[in-house]
Amino acid sequence: MRRGSVAQLVAIGIVCGGGAALVAILIPWLPDPASRQAGRIDFVFWFVTVICIAIFALVAAVIIYSVLKFRAQPGEDMDGPPIHGNTGLEIVWTAVPAALVTAISIVSAIVLAKNDHIPKASAAGDPLHPLVVEVTAQQFAWSFKYTGFGDLTSATLKLPLNKPVKLRITSLDVNHSFWVPEFGQKQDAVPGSWNNLVITPDKNGTYPVICTELCGLGHALMRSRAEVMPAQKFLSWAKGQQKKLGGPAGSSGKAVFTANGCDSCHTFTPAGANKKIGPDLDNLRQEAQRAGQPLEQFIRTSIVDPNAYVEPGFTKGLMPTSFSSLPKAQLDALVSYLAGGAKK
Ligand code: CUA
Repeated sequence: MRRGSVAQLVAIGIVCGGGAALVAILIPWLPDPASRQAGRIDFVFWFVTVICIAIFALVAAVIIYSVLKFRAQPGEDMDGPPIHGNTGLEIVWTAVPAALVTAISIVSAIVLAKNDHIPKASAAGDPLHPLVVEVTAQQFAWSFKYTGFGDLTSATLKLPLNKPVKLRITSLDVNHSFWVPEFGQKQDAVPGSWNNLVITPDKNGTYPVICTELCGLGHALMRSRAEVMPAQKFLSWAKGQQKKLGGPAGSSGKAVFTANGCDSCHTFTPAGANKKIGPDLDNLRQEAQRAGQPLEQFIRTSIVDPNAYVEPGFTKGLMPTSFSSLPKAQLDALVSYLAGGAKK
């Protein structure tokens, strides 16, 4: 091969590889990682992407060069020269991909093992090392239970910064799947089994929690939030929440309302809630009249047995049925809070 031809081949390769690199870099394919695990996954992603771009540039250069250089000229109808393979080339194009695939599997295996591993605590007796959160999925809501904090429940996933968190994920009905794009991992929620996921958030912020397994009518609405905050702030939230929700007399209806995520579907002005997925709770009086029930009884039934009466215009089965297991003190507080706030 002449020197000029090699230069042409290399030039085409640089243009193709450069173009592919720009597509990889300039388009934000993945969100910025917000956990150690996502950072490692990002590394594997780029490791594979760089290899792919190099191979793409090589193959594209050879194809384009051949199409331009060796195509049949007008009027030329001879057969091409007979070629019987090239042992050297065949060894190279077998050995190089084998080495690359081996390298990718070793890097991936290391990252998978590291991502499942909870490192030893630096200080003994740290209540946040690891923090265990039970994640329960159901049509169509998430709930999060902090077993180390008196089974405190929350409708949003609050997490301390830079602490390894062990999520134990299950489902009450059908298969769902837990996903926070910024944490880089997905884990199935399967009824009757507990699947684990380790997350070490390393960036403060609020990220979406998404159900990523088609689970029924409300699948697209099955969302919550993950809030990452400094460890101290997390501890004071957990302790404050325990106080608000604990004790028969101390239960605050508003705390029960937000802890159970009522505000992620309903409008209720006294709680500052403004969502329209479920019926407007500012109009509970009219709704109770339509259902032909006394106000407080109507509210209680609608929480513990939501399919008994469904407000016209809304779909049966969208409201989770699991609130029937709310402790009685919390349920009472919630009912009187809603009844007190319903407009006359
Ligand atoms: Cu739950 Cu999709």
